[in-house]
Amino acid sequence: MDQDVDRLVTRFDHHDPAFARDNRPWDVYAGLRERCPIAYSDAWEDGFYILSKYADVARVAKDPGTFSNRWSVTLPGLPGQEEPPEVSLSIPLGMDPPEFNEWRRMLNPYFSPQKAEAGIPGMRQVVNELIDGFIDRGSAELYDELLAPFPAIITCRILGLPENEWHDFADPVHEALQAGPEGSYGGGPQTPSRVSMMEAVGRMVAIAQERRADPRDDVLSFLGTAEVHGRPLNEIEMAGICTVLLGGGVDTTTNAIGVTLVELARRPEARQRLIDDPALIPLAVEEFLRMWSPFQGLARRVMTDVDVGGCPMHEGDKVLMLWASANRDPDEFDRPDDVVVDRSPNRHLAFGLGPHRCIGAHIARAEMRVALEEVLRRLPDYEVDEAGLQLPPDVGLIYGYSRVPVTFSPAGRES
Ligand code: HEM
Repeated sequence: MDQDVDRLVTRFDHHDPAFARDNRPWDVYAGLRERCPIAYSDAWEDGFYILSKYADVARVAKDPGTFSNRWSVTLPGLPGQEEPPEVSLSIPLGMDPPEFNEWRRMLNPYFSPQKAEAGIPGMRQVVNELIDGFIDRGSAELYDELLAPFPAIITCRILGLPENEWHDFADPVHEALQAGPEGSYGGGPQTPSRVSMMEAVGRMVAIAQERRADPRDDVLSFLGTAEVHGRPLNEIEMAGICTVLLGGGVDTTTNAIGVTLVELARRPEARQRLIDDPALIPLAVEEFLRMWSPFQGLARRVMTDVDVGGCPMHEGDKVLMLWASANRDPDEFDRPDDVVVDRSPNRHLAFGLGPHRCIGAHIARAEMRVALEEVLRRLPDYEVDEAGLQLPPDVGLIYGYSRVPVTFSPAGRES
């Protein structure tokens, strides 16, 4: 174990710059699981517990009565959150049952397996248009040319935002999540990204209100016309939903596709298997989500004294559930550190567990599947320029590359 990993296991800090190296977080998680499966760190705020084993993470995620979402789910959280906000600023993520249930039930139909499946032809068209933009060059910077635009355009489509303005909505999310706690989500100074995230959400609310007069089949029209407790949604509620949908849908999927393509290039045999048998791609998607979960971990607040895995916790304590570590737990998975492209069953926690389990999981899976199918069909011999690969300076909340240069045999456009 190298010195930085040892240090990070002893005093865990997911926002330490040394954490942000290729695959480094997983070395730290292995150390935690082996040496101290329920650890404590004072790195942020007044300290927090760290859960690295699958059973402990699952136990907490499934018990919203004891472990609340009403405070921030990031560590550190937003400034001045000694008490949870009276009106939730992130809906439904920042709510607990029973209040949570009505909101989640209301949104579920827009994110059903059927909706995701129906979106696949449109997703395929977007991916192919993006690939057409660079395929004759024999090289590309995949982050800018495919990984960032694809999920952003699809998110705009589902929400009902102008697709050609995807940069205005997605860039603030990338900036906010990649900036780390000194940036926008952790209570640091007001950064440009925090301001533009608020602006993006403000525009979404304005569009939702306009759609009241002219509703279409998209989420913003729904927000403009829906009712809760027998009355229309107010602006704060709409903004709360928009914040979570925008923040949840963009960077996660971008990173998941990027890491999968990089790791496939590092495993030529696995890649060839998927090229020869594309029917395996849906299982492979699950396996790459397990191995390199985009969301590393999310937090809960303890509401009443409780015991987790033999560790007493008290009201007011904070707990970080490391989804990414749980997904490599040898007590849950055989050969946990190997990519087994046809692993089944695969009960990974990349989308979380319990009431807050990712509402966008079906859409994310469909996007990942389509991106892999089309990249492997059209650029089957792509190679990653490892020297040009870049991680952002902070991967403590979300892991994924911000530069992915590739080369491949050039080919013709399809459209
Ligand atoms: C690979 C891509 C994705 C990953 C890894 C991911 C991961 C997660 C995780 C771990 C949670 C649980 C949060 C918690 O328990 O505190 C979650 C919740 C959520 N996700 Fe995703 N997500 C992805 C894609 C998406 C997409 C495409 C959307 C929207 C279009 C989305 C929207 C949401 C929302 C709204 C929630 C909150 C659900 C609730 O509180 O009930 N996610 N996601």
